[in-house]
Amino acid sequence: MGTNRVLVLALMFVVVGTAGVSITTWLGEWPTADGALFPRIAMMPMMGGGMMHDPRMRAMMQEMMSGRLPPGITPERLPDPNSPGATLLIRYCTQCHNLPAPAMHTAEEWPAVEARMFNRMAMMSGMGGMGGMMRRRMMPIRAPAGEEQETILAYLQGHALRPANVEALGPPDTPGLALFRQTCSQCHALPDPTLHTADEWPVVVDRMRKNMRAMDRRVITDPERDEIVGFLATEAGS
Ligand code: HEC
Ligand code: HEC
Repeated sequence: MGTNRVLVLALMFVVVGTAGVSITTWLGEWPTADGALFPRIAMMPMMGGGMMHDPRMRAMMQEMMSGRLPPGITPERLPDPNSPGATLLIRYCTQCHNLPAPAMHTAEEWPAVEARMFNRMAMMSGMGGMGGMMRRRMMPIRAPAGEEQETILAYLQGHALRPANVEALGPPDTPGLALFRQTCSQCHALPDPTLHTADEWPVVVDRMRKNMRAMDRRVITDPERDEIVGFLATEAGS
């Protein structure tokens, strides 16, 4: 899903939320013919207790964000799933989108991504005015405290993606190298080819194709996939 559509949807949330409050207040004073306060009652599930507590609303928000993070990383598949870091990741990082995999970024990349996410959460949980209204009415976002932020970051960095040593990847005319560099550094740093064996790489690359589809990137063709897998096989770990 493109950024524009996400923005439009996000705006719709605000407008529907705002309109919901005024229409409910206004119509609440205009009982229907049989005297029932129908509109107020009809609005209740949407307004009461914050929309994000509604599983349907949460699912919709996650769907909206699906262009950002692919589904499929389940809590059980997290490394060290019962550690404090994994527990906090599940608690805070699934409020807006799918669970992020620690291996999606290198230890060097995570601090900047994290800072962006923490800022977002702090903004959405603390703002007054419209933000306060959004928080109360629609999306009560919880933000991690300072110590929790450190635990999450340490956990992500502890299980991060190992980046490639680009100079060690061979001369520039090595078959598949250019395509690998160009394709596999779009969403995260270029991964180290020794991370997986020649048998494992085809499976990982096929999962990345699904990620490309889920994250709205151009999906590599079959010949491109074979070229990248061929390159990775020659550089693979054992
Ligand atoms: C308040 C909502 C919200 C919360 C909570 C949130 N995110 Fe995000 N996240 C977003 C949005 C919006 C995007 C897409 C825009 C962007 O990348 O900044 C995104 C994108 C991402 C991406 C993909 C983009 C990239 O740079 O790789 C990752 C990874 C990510 N979030 C990790 C996390 C982690 C880790 C946490 C928990 C510490 C978290 N998010 C919590 C809203 C949120
Ligand atoms: C569209 C974005 C995107 C592109 C492009 C992409 N990846 Fe990924 N990559 C991800 C996401 C999301 C994760 C974490 C979830 C997962 O592992 O599927 C990830 C994780 C990884 C991991 C760590 C997990 C593991 O199984 O070891 C490796 C290695 C990796 N990618 C390799 C590649 C390679 C090789 C390419 C190029 C063919 C590539 N990626 C292209 C999104 C992408």
